[in-house]
Amino acid sequence: MLSSRLKNVTPSVTVAISSKVKEMKSNRINVINLSIGEPDFTIPEKAKEYGKKSLDDNKTKYDLVAGILELREAICEKLNKENEISYTPDQIVLSSGAKNSITNTILAVTDPGDEILLPLPYWVSYSEIIKITNAIPIEVPTKKENNFKVTKSDLAKVVTDKTKMIVITNPSNPTGAVYTRDELMEIAEFCLEKGIYIIADEIYEKIRFNDSFVSIASLSENIKNITITINGFAKSVAMTGMRLGYTASNTEIAKAMSTIQSHIVSHPSLTSQYIGLGALRECEEDMNHMVQTYKKRCELITKRLDKIKNISYVEPSGAFYIFIDLSKVKEKYKYKNSFSVEFCQNFLEEEKVAVVPGEAFGIDEYIRISYACHEDEFLEGINRLEKYINKFI
Ligand SMILES: Cc1ncc(COP(=O)(O)O)c(C=O)c1O
Repeated sequence: MLSSRLKNVTPSVTVAISSKVKEMKSNRINVINLSIGEPDFTIPEKAKEYGKKSLDDNKTKYDLVAGILELREAICEKLNKENEISYTPDQIVLSSGAKNSITNTILAVTDPGDEILLPLPYWVSYSEIIKITNAIPIEVPTKKENNFKVTKSDLAKVVTDKTKMIVITNPSNPTGAVYTRDELMEIAEFCLEKGIYIIADEIYEKIRFNDSFVSIASLSENIKNITITINGFAKSVAMTGMRLGYTASNTEIAKAMSTIQSHIVSHPSLTSQYIGLGALRECEEDMNHMVQTYKKRCELITKRLDKIKNISYVEPSGAFYIFIDLSKVKEKYKYKNSFSVEFCQNFLEEEKVAVVPGEAFGIDEYIRISYACHEDEFLEGINRLEKYINKFI
């Protein structure tokens, strides 16, 4: 018998789609994969050098649970310079990816039965991590007119005396929307008033297309104290497989996370940490180049989508996704249970293009397209989407 904590946990939809794509490719079927949340760049050379040198120097033994001091210092410097938040190295805990950091945070702060608010649409893994930790995910409806950004009045409708945390993903996966300072201030003040912790998932923070990004923890000292900022190296430096993420939080929470981590994984891979250190110290230009490429792709893809009738999308200001509204297609489409899941399955079978169903993010009339791939690929994918949609409208 398996643990009851797994009762309602489902495997990642995006990972399932990627497996299907791999299977099709191994059968020599030419698939366009627009489902993946992974940069198509490689780790910058200067960062790799740090990893290679650490191996040559035999930095391969057990080390500090929270991560090597140089990297925690470099992260503090980055947060200070780029995000205007002042942290000390004892408030930074490195982990094996942002997923791991989110799990550490929830384990450190919640008790079984505590409620965690997830503004819709939300990244697939939050709800499942929350269930695994025996907390309860609570979906928060948001409005399309507000680009699905949650507001104080949305929150006021769902808060109970069990509410312990909220997750704010900024920039958002799946919409690419970015919150303004005023929007964040309103949410954060509400959380302060109600005694709710904020998980500020800022993993896409570098990938934004204008300069107005604000970190929640920078809003005030009190807000910083209730905020656990999640960040990592997967998206900004194309280090997905190196599994390196981190939290910045108050010292009490950081210590609690270190205690948990010390018993579960000890610390993230040392080689990955040195590569991350190289990235922060030497690779600003490489990261800027990646962001400029995503920005150009975003312009291309939105221009192309604007030419397709009967669909709309959330205007992205960051990340590398576009969340497309297919509610007009849904009205005409024949499906049994979930429109977006069946649409995506059939679209993959018939047009050989993989995209992610909106249902994976809690909103069924949408699909998510990733443009973390060559423009020829996503433009061809959109051509096929237009052709496929036109069969039904
Ligand atoms: C919003 C968000 N947070 C966290 C992660 C996970 O990052 P990592 O690969 O560092 O675990 C992802 C990955 O897709 C994501 O989209």
